[in-house]
Amino acid sequence: MREYNIRDIALAPSGHRKIEWVRQFMPVLNRLNQEFTDQKPFAGKRVVLCLHLEAKTAYLALTLQAGGAKVAVVASNPLSTQDDVVAALVENGISAYAWYKATDEEYKMHINQALDFKPDLIIDDGGDLVSALHTSRRELLDRIQGGAEETTTGILRLKAMAKEGKLCFPMMAVNDARSKYLFDNRYGTGQSVWDAILRTTNLVVAGKTVCIIGYGWCGKGVALRAKGLGAKVVICEVDPVKANEAWMDGHDVKKLKEAAPYADYFITVTGNKNVIHREHMQLMKNGAILANAGHFDVEICKPDLAQISISQKTVKPNIEEFILPDGRKIYLLAEGRLVNLAAGDGHPAEVMDMSFALQALALDYLAKNKEIENGVHNVPLEIDNKVALMKLNSLGLNIDSLTDEQVRYLAAWQE
Ligand code: ADE
Repeated sequence: MREYNIRDIALAPSGHRKIEWVRQFMPVLNRLNQEFTDQKPFAGKRVVLCLHLEAKTAYLALTLQAGGAKVAVVASNPLSTQDDVVAALVENGISAYAWYKATDEEYKMHINQALDFKPDLIIDDGGDLVSALHTSRRELLDRIQGGAEETTTGILRLKAMAKEGKLCFPMMAVNDARSKYLFDNRYGTGQSVWDAILRTTNLVVAGKTVCIIGYGWCGKGVALRAKGLGAKVVICEVDPVKANEAWMDGHDVKKLKEAAPYADYFITVTGNKNVIHREHMQLMKNGAILANAGHFDVEICKPDLAQISISQKTVKPNIEEFILPDGRKIYLLAEGRLVNLAAGDGHPAEVMDMSFALQALALDYLAKNKEIENGVHNVPLEIDNKVALMKLNSLGLNIDSLTDEQVRYLAAWQE
């Protein structure tokens, strides 16, 4: 079997440079890389990563390899793969199955090829690998010791599987660790979504109205940065508590139908489907820009947009123009796929440093603990705190700790 299926190995030099750049800004992963090099916690293990294949992910793959693992990578989204980075991984002895703009069939073929690698441990981003293992590749289930999931969307799916007793190995909910979602989801998404929108459109945000649909940790980050860019922010949310949070954070709160006629930008961050559909699109003003920051490209109903339009064309890389019968134009960014990765490089390296350190330590935990039950498990608090402390340490920041007396006071009820 070929040990890779990629666009072009000759692209590797620029991939090596990208990996070298991010490595400098990932001090926590650097330290784990050293620890793993010394201790080889993954000796004899085969690991498949289904992640966004860009430079930070590549450094995670190399870190697991430094720990003794045999590693294969496959894309978790066909538009986020960077062909030069994938080529650099292959030159480093990692098996890779992915290319930018893979069709649906190619994407499935790549997942199957990666699974032919016969993993003991996996890392998934969004659930496609776990889903393939539990449907078309069930013969591999017995050998899987466990895995870790990166996203809110993936964990939702895993919990649904576990509830029905269908999840056949333990999965660590890396997304739910505080050192992940408080930084990656909030500050990572907040910055990378605007980075991608700004570099793609090259338009001003100050003074415009940005409608953000979904006020979870990712939506909060996107809203915070929109405000910082000078936008008026309006939040659409179905959860009344989160809607109150949005209001007290200083944003306007409305139904999407109310915001649709006047917002300039619409950004979906819900994890749900058909969130913006034809009824909303029909109300939008000329020049409205639509982007999605949720895992799957189902949040903005693309078939509806195509059906209500009389023409459609690409006007700039990652910008599709749709013209409605009355002449109004609506712009869709990055085919409605995860805009920060399809039209950008994903989260900043310093943020992915923490997320990928958690991923590496979650796999280390699984490798060391063979008796974990099937199901979805929180990352142990010690690992979460270890990553946070390593990050503080890398920043040269020190914090206090509780005295024994304070520990006793917090645990007592009589005083
Ligand atoms: N880079 C690699 N994986 C990523 C993710 N899940 N989100 C944002 N940037 C990333």
